[in-house]
Amino acid sequence: MTHAQARARHAELAEEIRRHDHLYYVAARPVVTDREYDRLYRELLDLERAFPELATAGSPSQRVGGQPLSEFKPSQHLAPMMSLDNTYSQEEVREFVARVQKLLPGETLDWVVEPKVDGLAVNLRYEDGLFTVGATRGDGTTGDDITANLRTLRSIPLRLARGPHRPAVLEVRGEVYLNKEVFRRINEERVSAGEEPFANPRNAAAGSLKQLDPSIVAKRRLDIVLYGTGRTEGGHPPATQVELLGWLQELGFRAPEKHWHCRGVEDLLAAITELDGLRDQFAYETDGAVIKLNSILLRERAGATAKAPRWGMAYKYAPDQAETRLNAITIQVGRTGKLTPVAELEPVALAGSTVKRATLHNEDQIGRLDVRVGDRVIIQKAGEIIPEVVRVVTERRQGDEKLFHFPKACPECGSAVAKGAVAAGAGGAGATTTKEAGADAEQEAADWRCVNPDCPAQVRGRIEHWCSRGAMDIEGGGEVLATQLVQSGLAHDVADLYRLTEAEVAGLERMGEKSARNFLAGLAASKSRDAWRLLFGLGIFHVGSGVAKAVMRRFATLEDLFGASVDQLSEVDDVGGVIAQSIVQWHGDSRNSSLVKRLHQAGLNFKSSLFAAGSAVGPFAGQTFVLTGTLPSLTREAASARIEALGGKVSGSVSKKTHFLLAGAEAGSKLEKAQKLGVTILEEPAFLQMCTKAEVERDAAAGGA
Ligand code: IVH
Repeated sequence: MTHAQARARHAELAEEIRRHDHLYYVAARPVVTDREYDRLYRELLDLERAFPELATAGSPSQRVGGQPLSEFKPSQHLAPMMSLDNTYSQEEVREFVARVQKLLPGETLDWVVEPKVDGLAVNLRYEDGLFTVGATRGDGTTGDDITANLRTLRSIPLRLARGPHRPAVLEVRGEVYLNKEVFRRINEERVSAGEEPFANPRNAAAGSLKQLDPSIVAKRRLDIVLYGTGRTEGGHPPATQVELLGWLQELGFRAPEKHWHCRGVEDLLAAITELDGLRDQFAYETDGAVIKLNSILLRERAGATAKAPRWGMAYKYAPDQAETRLNAITIQVGRTGKLTPVAELEPVALAGSTVKRATLHNEDQIGRLDVRVGDRVIIQKAGEIIPEVVRVVTERRQGDEKLFHFPKACPECGSAVAKGAVAAGAGGAGATTTKEAGADAEQEAADWRCVNPDCPAQVRGRIEHWCSRGAMDIEGGGEVLATQLVQSGLAHDVADLYRLTEAEVAGLERMGEKSARNFLAGLAASKSRDAWRLLFGLGIFHVGSGVAKAVMRRFATLEDLFGASVDQLSEVDDVGGVIAQSIVQWHGDSRNSSLVKRLHQAGLNFKSSLFAAGSAVGPFAGQTFVLTGTLPSLTREAASARIEALGGKVSGSVSKKTHFLLAGAEAGSKLEKAQKLGVTILEEPAFLQMCTKAEVERDAAAGGA
């Protein structure tokens, strides 16, 4: 293929892929199967591998990629990003409309009502149609440059279609959000990994966008809705909000699913009520309605205060709340040792269910709320899964409410408690000392943890987790039995379960012979479970079922996994440095490594069936190569084919995860980057030697098998 042919085909493919991305992510009307899409995408990548110069910033291949960042750079918006005044009252909506009318005497005003998307406000800048910078709002003038993370959102076009309406410079504004369903799944995974669930989709979206590694952001499947513009130069920017929403869509953006064009205040209030009835069906959390003056010209005349424009207002829906009495505060000790204060409540109806308990999160939260036992409290559910106490009704205080003193020792075992990160506990999960960026770290720092790995509450939690359906799936191994096994001293860790006799189990209170037999049969069956279940069952901090599967796709056995270094583990897709370190640190504790040994001796399966099914095999398995420049004898295709036949991966760009750069004549920036990162650089003769050696080894192994 000549260079010109490649360029033409690449342009065709890029256009086609952009069209499908738009149909899938923006219009929600896909017209091809995933398979067909993948085929187009692979062809595009192949072309870029052969002609790296085609991988320009606007190419669909640039969605994920680039280096993890160490910090976000500041980015100045071309036009400031303001916010809107809020209200919960219909009366204030009336006052607002009257106020604007007074500012614009004699004008007939019309309005637009849109959903107020509960996400994170961002500014996207396009220059000559190309997405160049994306940033958070920050202080309104300057935000964090999160371009690399935003590039991973498929609903953000990297390039805008050329046309008479396309401005030379365009700032578009909207909210990044996490789909409610994805939020639910992420939280399930976090709980299963011993991590704190995100309180609501907004926090989850914010936490995700603040990740320094774009490849992690890509996995979170964030989405965006655009509803406004900042600076525009050129093109024909619209004169009204209604037109603007259509115009944004024409340019390839997703606008709010519904908007109302209203003439007067009664119309406005009706739209707000209608939206309230519909918002449950939206993919994002909607916490209110945004009211905007339709005419953009009139907006300019209405002007702004220092903080917010005068032409708009946000009406917030009251979250589902209820008042009740706080009868007691109890402390729950989880399997990771975390002490969670729980509000024990007078049962009360809230959002369709009866609530008896609500979380108080941690000691700091009790202090912030100044909550006392006996207080009347307001509890709330607003997109969160667990209800929480939001405020004390201080005006109803009697004077006999009691201050709660957070325990200075573990209420379960009396051991010391420590705040923040703790070393990996033996036999159990233990917190890592490494912190993830953002909200997670703040949460962890505020948490008290029981430092005793033998704490009965932790041991019980670990046994329960081991037996749970998502892990080793052993029937009968719930809270009751786990408590009895720990209390009776029959089990100190999960390996002890495999030494239990029928008589021992049957001897426990309220345990018949039949249930004892069933439990032992369940234990026996669990010995042949797949290795990822075992890994997940160990309850290592940050290792949920998703991570466990990803890891066991890349390691043939648990011995291989526990023999791997942090670097090797970090190479696994879905596994970042924090997770890798957590695994290595956990196994570095001699009690944990001996637990693993005892499980092996007890006859548990350590082999991963996922490994054979999903991953490349061969002497180059796990090795990533990048090609650059012109090689003396091999074409790029031939070199790639040889690498892949040996189980290696060929990638288009150099990163920390690259093992080898195969460099030919006139190698450019890739060579420089590889040198900077300390990647091994191969010239063709060394590469050929390496291949021949690997092929001989592979053939010998196959012959011997
Ligand atoms: S228009 C001058 N439209 O809510 C700011 N904002 O309380 C104009 N928001 O700062 C913003 N959905 O972060 C607008 N459909 C929508 C919105 C929306 C969510 C956010 C935005 C804004 C805040 C206003």
